[in-house]
Amino acid sequence: MNASTRSPSLNADAISALLPVARRIGREIVVLPETGSTNDVASQLGRAGAAEGLVIFAERQTAGRGRLGRKWESSAHKGLWFSLLLRPAFALADWSRLTTWAAVGIARGMEEEFPGCRATVKWPNDIYLAGKKVVGILSESVAGPGGYAVVGIGVNVNHTREDFPEELRTKATSLRETAGAEPLDRHAVAAALLRQLDALYPALEHDFASVVAEAQSRSFLVGRRITVHGPQETYEATAEGLEVNGSLRVRCDDGQTRIVSGGEVSVSVACAPTHSAPS
Ligand code: BTN
Repeated sequence: MNASTRSPSLNADAISALLPVARRIGREIVVLPETGSTNDVASQLGRAGAAEGLVIFAERQTAGRGRLGRKWESSAHKGLWFSLLLRPAFALADWSRLTTWAAVGIARGMEEEFPGCRATVKWPNDIYLAGKKVVGILSESVAGPGGYAVVGIGVNVNHTREDFPEELRTKATSLRETAGAEPLDRHAVAAALLRQLDALYPALEHDFASVVAEAQSRSFLVGRRITVHGPQETYEATAEGLEVNGSLRVRCDDGQTRIVSGGEVSVSVACAPTHSAPS
């Protein structure tokens, strides 16, 4: 891709200009041309005492990572690769809420920017559009005095089908692929996501039940046959709903209910959902 066809470089002031003056998330925005992982940069700044709400974007990541040690492909000028530095005021045991909060905020932001699309949440950390992954979320935290959390978010924005490796084409999509053929303005997308995350931030502490309820209503899994890849075993079940802390509740074939709070979950192939399918 040459400079004349790629989308304009991200600019922190251009994103800030689209945000409300009084805000917590995006209080300070930094755009790096290239870094290893924005989660690592946000974490270093968190350790150094940076204020809550700092957002680090990188045009390109050379060591972007996902959950379970996976690599996150972060090519330049295509997506939004960014990390939020947070200092939640509530108990560390509840910081797992951050992924659910981020998923709902991001889903709302995408629908604000593209009212025709329906963003679903694939527990625990993915956003899907039209049945394919468009966003991944990686929450990490450092406990102790001065502890902090980093929520890393990767959004496929201007990727075309050819930009994805062959093996991902049936599984991954971009906003552009789903919401329109023209390259999208990444500043407008970034601002919509940050606005919604900021608006939802108080609910993280004071009304998390409503965040969980929305995550459940947006769930890509609820009602489907799934495979749970747990630390000890792999088993099939039906996804039933979310618990108050955001964990996934499943019904096993012997009728037993289990609560899944980590690991990986995949949709079992060739099983129709038992509720209306996400569009
Ligand atoms: C996943 O799907 O497993 C999570 C992917 C998270 C990717 C984002 S991109 C910005 C931030 N920096 C990283 O290294 N990872 C997250």
